[in-house]
This record gives sequence, structure tokens and C-alpha cells, in this order.
Amino acid sequence: MPLSEGVLAELERIVGAENLASDDATRYVYGADASIHHHPPDAVVRPGSTAEVSEVLRLCERELVPVTTRGAGTGLSGNAVPVRGGIVLEMMRMNRILSVRVEDLYCELEPGVVFSALNRALEPHGYWFPPAPGSGDVCTVGGMIANSASGIRTVKYGATRDLVLGLEVVLADGTVLEVGNRGLKNASGYQLEKLFVGSEGTLGVITRARLRILPRPRSSGSLIASFRSLEAAGAAISQIYRNRLMPSALEIMDRNCIQAVKRKFGTPLPDAEALIIVEMDGDRRVVEDDLRAAGEISRAAGASDVDFATDPARTARIWESRKQVLPSMASSGERGPVSLADDLGMPVSRVPEVLRTFAEIARRNGVVIGAYGHAGEGNIHCKVLIDTKSKRDWEGARRATDEIYGEVLRAGGTVSAEHGIGYSRGRLFRAERGASIGVMRRIKAALDPKGILNPGKLFDAPDDMLSDNRYITGECD
Ligand code: LAC
Ligand code: ZN
Repeated sequence: MPLSEGVLAELERIVGAENLASDDATRYVYGADASIHHHPPDAVVRPGSTAEVSEVLRLCERELVPVTTRGAGTGLSGNAVPVRGGIVLEMMRMNRILSVRVEDLYCELEPGVVFSALNRALEPHGYWFPPAPGSGDVCTVGGMIANSASGIRTVKYGATRDLVLGLEVVLADGTVLEVGNRGLKNASGYQLEKLFVGSEGTLGVITRARLRILPRPRSSGSLIASFRSLEAAGAAISQIYRNRLMPSALEIMDRNCIQAVKRKFGTPLPDAEALIIVEMDGDRRVVEDDLRAAGEISRAAGASDVDFATDPARTARIWESRKQVLPSMASSGERGPVSLADDLGMPVSRVPEVLRTFAEIARRNGVVIGAYGHAGEGNIHCKVLIDTKSKRDWEGARRATDEIYGEVLRAGGTVSAEHGIGYSRGRLFRAERGASIGVMRRIKAALDPKGILNPGKLFDAPDDMLSDNRYITGECD
């Protein structure tokens, strides 16, 4: 149901005409994030303050208008797609860093601050906020909190959830709530600040955050090692941990990712079944010793090529291939990569056996699967490569995704380690969480009784992962 003239006039009064849009082009653009889904909102609202957010929510609750909050829209599971229409609340105008308090080990900021801009502001202090999502140059801290985002440094420094000390949130009825405190510790009852982390905009709108910051490591270096089997790569990772080494990043790429990177960019990688990239940080001597130890472990596990670097230029070259994975898959000829089975979490030691099943799953369903990601914490990303104009290929991708997640859940894992549930994984999420889903629904009903905040997501996401698929327009085979 489109918004009434009265609601649009009220929204315009609250945020100003320049921060409200309901033209077709804007509505189309804000109907998408980085997932496969698309559904346009009725209007886009860009608030500039907590008071404005509060007024907007009060209005929307009274008028039963769905509210989907978003930052930069880099989510891969449809978390920010307004599947029930209503308004998109775009938080990018609230982008001030309010304080950096090194002596208290925290910073305070508004949700529209971009991850890399925060780290540029922390750098002169010798500090950083470590979780490093792949989209870190554009994604917002508000989105990271709403999804408990993480990335390559999480293995040592934790995910966003571990670093949130306090939040200001606006509840569905417009109430402004402070959760957490200004200290580093808190054992004072329910940790409500953590409850909002990963809630994907279904419980409230984050308008301010206090985040733990950490001293930047004095130096770092990296190692790349390639293996003739996934099991050998897995054995190296297990031995790294058994030898009490703690990498600041530990990534893996499978054969299909290696081949795609070689084909597209000509990057000189060996014809291996798997490669791992290990980063160590800390004092220079420790970094060198730890890299050498990880290199010896890799060779003992059967690595054919091992290369190290501690200087920035060569280290960047080692990381190049990891950064090239997505762009190389996006241009693999007829097939394009789709985000369906993109975020698997499992015990670290189970990664090789789970990845080994993918070749058979791909063959059975007529798709190509490339797997890569944060092996050091058992978080693997998968791209299913299909002809996105073919309905048959989409059916194959759906079946392959089901089978992949079946393997992950059998291994004791999760259907989302860092990208969130969004709109893509409703059925899988319900299968994974079982009775916890009922508790989550009760929390949701208590905080948002009218159900206006990001409706149709998380436990309410559809069974069909291909719902509102923006690729299929009805004209294909
Ligand atoms: C990455 C994103 C996809 O790790 O999470 O590249
Ligand atoms: Zn990732």
C-alpha cells in the first residue's frame, strides 16, 4: 500500500524535503543491496539526528509503515531490502566520529561512519578497530553492528559483537534507549547492547555506538602456501594452532578460486587444490619467528610452494590473489557468481571434509562452486556460478545451496558466520536454531509489537531463498 499524502507530508516536515525521496529511480535503487533480492520501498528517508529518527519511528508505528534501516547496502543476504515496502531509513547522514578516547580504550560514533574512515581517524592515535569486512572501504559501522559483521582479522581480534560496549537505539515506538555503559566491563544484568548486535534492524535503530579500540600491531608479515589437497591445507591449519601460533588472518582459497584468479588476472599461482594465506602481527622478531614456524608447519603438511613477506609491497602482492577472488568470479564467462551459500560457519577442523563434498554437489546440480574465506575460524564463503538468465541454473543453485548447508549443519556449524540471515536464509536459519526461534520471536514481539521494523527478515524470512529474485524477470528459459 503506497504511503498516504499525509504520511509523506509528515516525513517531509521531520527530515526536510531534501532528505525524502519517493521518485521511481530512487525507489528502484533502494530496492537492492548486494544480494540477489529486490523490492522497492515506497519512500527513502534520510534522518540527520536521533530526534528525527525517533519522530519518524513514532509516525511509522502509528501508521503501520514498515521501516527498513540501511547503511551502505553492502549486505549479501537481503538484510536491507525493503521486502514489505514502506520506508528505507538511510543512516549515511549521521556520520560523525564523536570522540576517540585512547585512555578509555573506546571511541564513540554515529552509525553512518564508514569502517575505513573510522580506521583512518584512529591511525594517528596508533589505534584501530580491527574487524575487517571485505566491503570495509564502503560499509558503515552501523551496518556492521546490525549484522555483527567481521572479516579477515576476526580470528585474532573478534567480530563486531565482541567490541560493542554501548549503544543508543531508538525503539519502534520512538523511545530513545541507552544500553551498555562507559566502562570496558559490564556484568550488570542482561547485556542488551549485545542483543541489538546482529538483530538486522528488527529490534531498533542504532543512532550512536561506543566501540572498543585496540593498539595497532607494531608490524606484520604474511605467508602464502599451496597444497595438493584440501586435507593437507587443513592439516597445516590444525598444526598452526597445536603449535600455539595465533595468526591475525588465516585465509583459504580452493582450486576453482585459484584457477579463476589465474585466468582473469594472470596472477602467478601454482596449480594447487588449495592455498592458505597466513598473517602474523606483533613485534618484528616475533612476526618473523612465527612466520618461519608456520612455513615449516606448512611444508611438513605437504605444501609445495611457500613464500613469505614482511615488507609492505611484497605483503600486498601475497594478498592480491585473495582480493582478486570475487572480481575474477564475476567475469568467468557465461556464468556469474550468486550469493546463496555465501557464508558458512563450522568448526575449523571440519573445513576440509566439508569443502571436499562441494565438487560432487556441484556436479550433481550442474553448477560450479568456488570456496574461499576465513578458514582459521571455520568461516567459508562460497560462490555458486550459474547462467543467471537460466531458471534451470537457478534451480540447480537452490539445490546445491541446500546440500551445502546440509553439510555445514551436520558438521555442527551455522548458516551465517558473518553476513547475516536477511531474506535469503529463513528456512535454513529456522532449521539451525530450532527452539531458540520461539525465544527470538518473543523478544521481537516485546520490543516491536506492531512488527514495523524490517518485517519479513530473520525468522520471518520466506522458505524460498529465491523470493524476489532480481535476476529473474520472467523472460528467461
Ligand atoms: C569476504 C566477504 C565476502 O570475506 O565476507 O570477502
Ligand atoms: Zn568474509
